[in-house]
Amino acid sequence: MYSEKVMDHFQNPRNVGEIENASGVGTVGNAKCGDIMRIYLDIDDNGVIQDCKFKTFGCGAAVATSSMATELVKGKTVQEALLVTNKAVMEALDGLPPVKVHCSLLAEEAIHAALWDYAEKHGVKIEGLKKPKSDIHEDEEEEAEEY
Ligand code: FES
Repeated sequence: MYSEKVMDHFQNPRNVGEIENASGVGTVGNAKCGDIMRIYLDIDDNGVIQDCKFKTFGCGAAVATSSMATELVKGKTVQEALLVTNKAVMEALDGLPPVKVHCSLLAEEAIHAALWDYAEKHGVKIEGLKKPKSDIHEDEEEEAEEY
């Protein structure tokens, strides 16, 4: 059901923990399943993400996607980090079962929330970054209503 990469990142998650005095911190939850994720970013003066850590109170897919997402944003500029979408993370993990796709949204939203926090604190504008939601479940409902 899960790819080898998903199992690897679930069993040996990279970048678990927190960063003291992080440049940006983002927390999002999904009220439907009750899972919560927090991402910490350490960003240098050139806007490059030097370090990224996460803490997840969530399912295995949420752990694996956050682990991969933190690996993907490290070394990128804040602008490039926006391209690390949940799709990009899922591709890097060789896919997720359809019922677990929503879990990958937690990682994307938590990164956006941390970037937003950084941008606000440092008076920086990140082109294309939208104000994050604290609960991604609202989003899913909105989407569901459209169909
Ligand atoms: Fe909630 Fe996976 S079931 S994030």
